Amino acid sequence: MVENRIVCFVSLGTYGTMSGSVTMSFASLPGSKKVALTTFGVLTTSGAGLALMLQQSVKASDLELHPPNYPWTHNGMLSALDHGSIRRGYQVYKQVCSACHSMEYLAFRNLVGVSHTEAEVKVLAEEIEVVDGPDESGEMFTRPGKLSDYFPKPYPNPEAARAANGGALPPDLSYIVNARHGGEDYVFSLLTGYCEPPAGVEVRDGLYYNPYFPGQAIGMAPPIYNEVLEFEDGTPATMSQVAKDVCTFLRWAAEPEHDQRKRMGLKLLMGSAILVPLVYYMKRHRWSVLKSRKIAYRPPK
Ligand code: HEC
Repeated sequence: MVENRIVCFVSLGTYGTMSGSVTMSFASLPGSKKVALTTFGVLTTSGAGLALMLQQSVKASDLELHPPNYPWTHNGMLSALDHGSIRRGYQVYKQVCSACHSMEYLAFRNLVGVSHTEAEVKVLAEEIEVVDGPDESGEMFTRPGKLSDYFPKPYPNPEAARAANGGALPPDLSYIVNARHGGEDYVFSLLTGYCEPPAGVEVRDGLYYNPYFPGQAIGMAPPIYNEVLEFEDGTPATMSQVAKDVCTFLRWAAEPEHDQRKRMGLKLLMGSAILVPLVYYMKRHRWSVLKSRKIAYRPPK
């Protein structure tokens, strides 16, 4: 509504000046006024340009570092996720990140056919203990996990998570690459971007300097380094390899339909390659009568 009204005023304003200029055009002005008007125009334009440039240079001096675009193998329009990488990424999550971060929207069954076989996932699930019940005597009991159980959480509630991490809450990682600007590029940069603070910058005790984190002081200690774990498939576990694999895993977690989506896209493209020319031909055919008709004026006798 407000916008509509503003548009209204603006158009009224233009209308006003337009009707004014009917009686007093630029050409009919005396020379001094022409010079004055031209100077005013040039000054306003250059002033606006300068303000715009200053505004942009202020943005460039922002302390936050934006992540570069990394060449993920799944970046292409029709490229699937690297499932070997998802499997290694799950191992990184399980052995490193799950000490602090939950992934509460992921169940063990989600891994079946994606990164592990059903038998493998059953073994993984049985490693955890789940509180279930009540049984026939009304008691809760623990049992080994099964495929339908969700990933275990490191802390019973957010307060416990904060208390154990110096007041900072480790966010749930299920949808983190969708929840952060820059997606997996950001998470990769964050994980590998820890460094010494620049001269003159003090970071409070318990916080770590990371140029990619908004505010640069993050409550997460650098979680990965070279050889932080040993991959079961023998891939050398360099820091960047570990970060890349966990990011691919997090991309899959946030978007499990990724591969399916691109396959559907391919099917759609192939389908429309046949359908669109066909429909176009039919349209030309149907309209040919109307399009080729000639309307002639026959003057009254
Ligand atoms: C020792 C505990 C701990 C471990 C291990 C850990 N994190 Fe964190 N993480 C945290 C805490 C605490 C925060 C919140 C930091 C803050 O808000 O200052 C956090 C925040 C994050 C964030 C969010 C940053 C943002 O933009 O808000 C991401 C992403 C993340 N961690 C990824 C990971 C990944 C991936 C791993 C495993 C490789 C991992 N973390 C391992 C404690 C941990």
